[in-house]
Amino acid sequence: MKKTFFASIALLVATLCLPFAAQAQFAKAEDAVTYRQAAFQLMGSHFGRMQPVMKGQVPYDKVAIAANIAVLNEISKLPWAAFGAGTEGGNAKVEIWLDPEDFKKAQEKLTISLKALTSASDAGNFDNLRVAYGEVGASCKACHDAFRQKK
Ligand code: HEC
Repeated sequence: MKKTFFASIALLVATLCLPFAAQAQFAKAEDAVTYRQAAFQLMGSHFGRMQPVMKGQVPYDKVAIAANIAVLNEISKLPWAAFGAGTEGGNAKVEIWLDPEDFKKAQEKLTISLKALTSASDAGNFDNLRVAYGEVGASCKACHDAFRQKK
């Protein structure tokens, strides 16, 4: 009886704390900046490493490219949660917080282009893959032009 009581209290406390825990994902704004920059670094690495293949300098290995694209798909989900209210800074333009809908659209463009890249990779057609790769690069650039400060 007593055990059940404490268990329900614990559950209640956990439930009440949940929204706060989600908000407190980053203790400080700088932590959010560090996190999203780290995620973008990984994105840059996993995108850039395919370039020699796309340029025809390295033979197309279907399995290796597919595995890398799978990683890229996962990483591409990460940065956005680190652009919460009050996390202005880094090389992010304030337009992100002033125009969140456009920022969201730029994220969706990336998602759509990555879907096309994934399909092209699954199909294994090198010419289509190259075109899709270029489209992903264009979606990175479009967002950077609008929302990232030039250094
Ligand atoms: C929806 C917008 C958006 C998209 C799409 C996007 N980026 Fe970025 N990227 C940013 C912003 C904003 C920053 C600056 C973040 C900061 O400094 O706080 C950034 C920063 C970076 C950085 C520098 C990270 C650092 O160390 O400071 C790299 C590398 C990068 N992006 C690569 C990419 C690649 C590669 C793609 C496409 C596969 C991509 N980004 C797509 C918005 C975007």
